[in-house]
Amino acid sequence: MVGGGQLARMSHQAAIALGQSLRVLAASPGDPAALVCADVHLGNPDDLDALRDLARGAEAVTFDHEGVPGELLRTLQAEGVAVHPRPDALLHAQDKLVMRRALEGFAGTPEYVEVADAADVDGLAARTGWPVVLKAARGGYDGRGVWLLDGPDPGLVAQLLASGTPLMAEQAVTMRRELAVQVARSPDGQAAAWPVVETVQRDGQCVEVLAPAPDLDPATAAAAQELALRIASVLDVTGLLAVELFDTDGTAGGLVVNELAMRPHNSGHWTIEGARTSQFEQHLRAVLDYPLGATESTAPVVVMANVLGAASPVVMPVDERVHHLFARFPDVKIHLYGKAERPARKVGHVTALGDDLDEVRARAVLAAEWLSTAVWADGWSPYDADARATRFPRTMQRRAVSRA
Ligand SMILES: Nc1ncnc2c1ncn2[C@@H]1O[C@H](COP(=O)(O)OP(=O)(O)O)[C@@H](O)[C@H]1O
Ligand SMILES: [Mg+2]
Repeated sequence: MVGGGQLARMSHQAAIALGQSLRVLAASPGDPAALVCADVHLGNPDDLDALRDLARGAEAVTFDHEGVPGELLRTLQAEGVAVHPRPDALLHAQDKLVMRRALEGFAGTPEYVEVADAADVDGLAARTGWPVVLKAARGGYDGRGVWLLDGPDPGLVAQLLASGTPLMAEQAVTMRRELAVQVARSPDGQAAAWPVVETVQRDGQCVEVLAPAPDLDPATAAAAQELALRIASVLDVTGLLAVELFDTDGTAGGLVVNELAMRPHNSGHWTIEGARTSQFEQHLRAVLDYPLGATESTAPVVVMANVLGAASPVVMPVDERVHHLFARFPDVKIHLYGKAERPARKVGHVTALGDDLDEVRARAVLAAEWLSTAVWADGWSPYDADARATRFPRTMQRRAVSRA
């Protein structure tokens, strides 16, 4: 796997169960996957020799991020390496302009233009009105590379173009919510879709995923899955495809494609505990051309919440936060990525399962916020009598009370 981030780290966990061993190309020994994989190559994804070393003897080469030059992957392919997704497919996850053009005609997309100067942005706004969304066509993630413009901003456009950022601009879509569909497709052409989820964003970054998307009309859900399967087939995707969607009116006709990712994706972390086959296992099955696994949910409601680095340093060590979290919520599952905490950085995620959306969501959000900040957002304290009553079995309650 090219890249040693949290996606590689969680793919490694899945690879172990399949009797496979994941080799990662990591930029630094402190990368999340480099910390845990036995077979770590240090190097850069734009170095052909590093990619060749990585591929030597491997069944297949796949990715934890999109930042790999297509021409190098084509060279590997020509040398006989099984690269999945293939570079011609991956291009659509690397370049938002190429993706928009490829989907024209069969998927709803926002109105967009390529931006060569500020006049292109203003020209789009003349048709769609302000605000307009300016985007780096390549290289953006977690909202870095997305700017909402309320009016002309020739200074920003000129500055970005001068720094070599390829730009596009889009109509700002008015939406009810954001959805995501994940599908897997094997080189053999077998494909499978997970239930459609709702993704909740804050500051351009995903913070929560609700599975399945609440109150989604079954016909719209089926249409979203069909759309993702069709995109996977038309673009000849191998491995995972995540399709980020805007739900503009709740109907199939109102689905607008935002972005594609061809790898495990934040919108699919819930599948580790929440689906029969996790996205990480499925990605490996697909790139290794194994038959795909079942994608049904394991609970009526699954909520994933990202653990983000807190705005200011937290005194309580992570290990102690984990202790407290487990004491309060024995059923919440956590995944910590081994990353240093920096404000708003994704350092882990939590998953809660259950029957009632409000209750499951509250638990997941409380747990994620606690791990981020060491603060219970609802004011809960382990020292309250009520809290003890829910925390300890009956026989232990008395002891806990007498000790207090
Ligand atoms: N055309 C648009 N209209 C409205 N909101 C948008 C639009 N494009 C992006 N956004 C918002 O910005 C977020 C990040 O944009 P996206 O293109 O997915 O970038 P990234 O690569 O950082 O995920 C989206 O999830 C959405 O909330
Ligand atoms: Mg996105």
